[in-house]
Amino acid sequence: MNKRFYVTTAIDYVNGQPHLGHAYEKVIADVVARARRCLGEPVFFLTGLDEHGQKVQLAAQAEGKTPSEYCDGLALAWRQFAQKLGLSNDDFVRTTEPRHKAVVQAILSRLHAEGRFYKKTHRGFYSTTVESFLTEKDRLPDGSFDPAYGKVIELEEENYYFKLREHQQWLMDYIEANPAFIAPEPRRNEILGFLKNNELEDLCISRPAARLNWGIPLPFDPLFVTYVWFDALLNYISIPAAHGDAGVLSALVSQLTAEENGRLLSCLHSQPATPQSAIELWPADVQVIGKDILKFHAVFWPIMLKAMGLPLPRQILVHGWWQKDGEKLSKSTGNVVDPVAVIDEWGLDAFRYYVIRELDIGPDGNWTDAGFRSRYQAELANGLGNLVNSSLSMIKRYRAGRVPHGAHQLAAEVSECRARVLACYRDHRLQDALLAIAALITRANQYIDQTSPFKLAKDPAQAARLDDILYTLAEVCRALGVLLWPVIPGTAEKLQRQLGFPAAAANLSEQAPPIATGHELGDIFPLFPRKES
Ligand code: MSP
Repeated sequence: MNKRFYVTTAIDYVNGQPHLGHAYEKVIADVVARARRCLGEPVFFLTGLDEHGQKVQLAAQAEGKTPSEYCDGLALAWRQFAQKLGLSNDDFVRTTEPRHKAVVQAILSRLHAEGRFYKKTHRGFYSTTVESFLTEKDRLPDGSFDPAYGKVIELEEENYYFKLREHQQWLMDYIEANPAFIAPEPRRNEILGFLKNNELEDLCISRPAARLNWGIPLPFDPLFVTYVWFDALLNYISIPAAHGDAGVLSALVSQLTAEENGRLLSCLHSQPATPQSAIELWPADVQVIGKDILKFHAVFWPIMLKAMGLPLPRQILVHGWWQKDGEKLSKSTGNVVDPVAVIDEWGLDAFRYYVIRELDIGPDGNWTDAGFRSRYQAELANGLGNLVNSSLSMIKRYRAGRVPHGAHQLAAEVSECRARVLACYRDHRLQDALLAIAALITRANQYIDQTSPFKLAKDPAQAARLDDILYTLAEVCRALGVLLWPVIPGTAEKLQRQLGFPAAAANLSEQAPPIATGHELGDIFPLFPRKES
């Protein structure tokens, strides 16, 4: 078995520029992926772009471009954004790629052949902004529709629908029986409440090609294209298929004609996967999404998977939304946080640290520039930065840069912290991991204050006591360089190098042997330059 720990993010709509919300979600997934790698698990981390739909078609038209030219231009910027965030993703999916489209069509063919879809005419109010029909429940008390729906028109349209209703009880039972499936708990309760109080409406899976042609054609009726969710959600399995995941591939080919099968395989084989490099990815271990797309992931997606005969992901991990200064992020009002500008000014790790430390996965958060600056000064520059700088400077100054032989006086604290951080990483409690690490940093800074190594250094009779302190501090710094690596890998590597260890020493799965007596430090420099505000 070659199963990898498989972590995914929502794929972002390609129209528009990346913002704090997109960055936050991708950093969460990256930390989860990096933590698992440090724990010695093979990992596959997928992120990417959702490129079809009416908005893209219209935005391209407005710029006088074809949709595919428009998407290619923006995809480049989004890929650069992923690099800017330091993401360690193993693949980057674009829903316009042949490898994805082939899988979507194969699944549609199969589900159609098995009678999972039906066609019907629907007349109702259609929101051009969210690209879907509204129901009576979407009306405000005064009978109008929320302005967020944009222009609402009356429309009569024939479309294909996916049968959901018959699976409602099964899904409730599944969620009840698998408490970790939707996390955190309030989101699970929200979905259970929704399922208990509403009868599921079947899911519309198409749009007439005459109205929207920027989509994947339905293989069984070319007058229609696939509506975005039946296209976008499938990225989570199309990429495993492209990498040769046998479970997903067998679900795809079971109902295909020889011709369809040949077409599918030729698209997938354009990918690097060979039988030897084939890997097993599905089911995903964790799918990170924002609260607004919970229903798609916790209701429609599980039912689609069940229809395909595939297992459900182990966890849907739902984060909250960021605001800035207590207001919704909005390009039109200028209330935005540009992650790229923050990273350029403060450094990538300051950004990554702040979003994970400030906002637990679940509730909504509020970005303030003052809050960001104050955490940077207090926790990074003063807390971690000071500890490392003063510890290593003392070893340089008092012991010529060589770690002395001594007793590890904080061994119990380090070991307890390590156990807590590992448990947090395994449970995706990333903020708690940073809190446990922050407690160790505070403890070590107090230890310096209490033991006063600066004073001891003046008295040769205290050399043995000073050795213990310096050795202890070197060990604490080394532990921090490993424990912090998933969240702030650049800083962790710098710390390791300053300690004289190769940068690749971030292994959480086993405790490192004690630092050898006489081990030589590298060059030291401040990890977080102090900023004048
Ligand atoms: N394309 C769909 C997802 C398809 S997944 C098969 C989509 N795209 S999106 O660009 O609108 O949003 C991408 C992710 O960013 C979502 O998980 C969404 O919740 C998240 N965020 C968008 N704005 C956000 C904030 N203000 N704060 C935090 N996350 C937010 O939905």
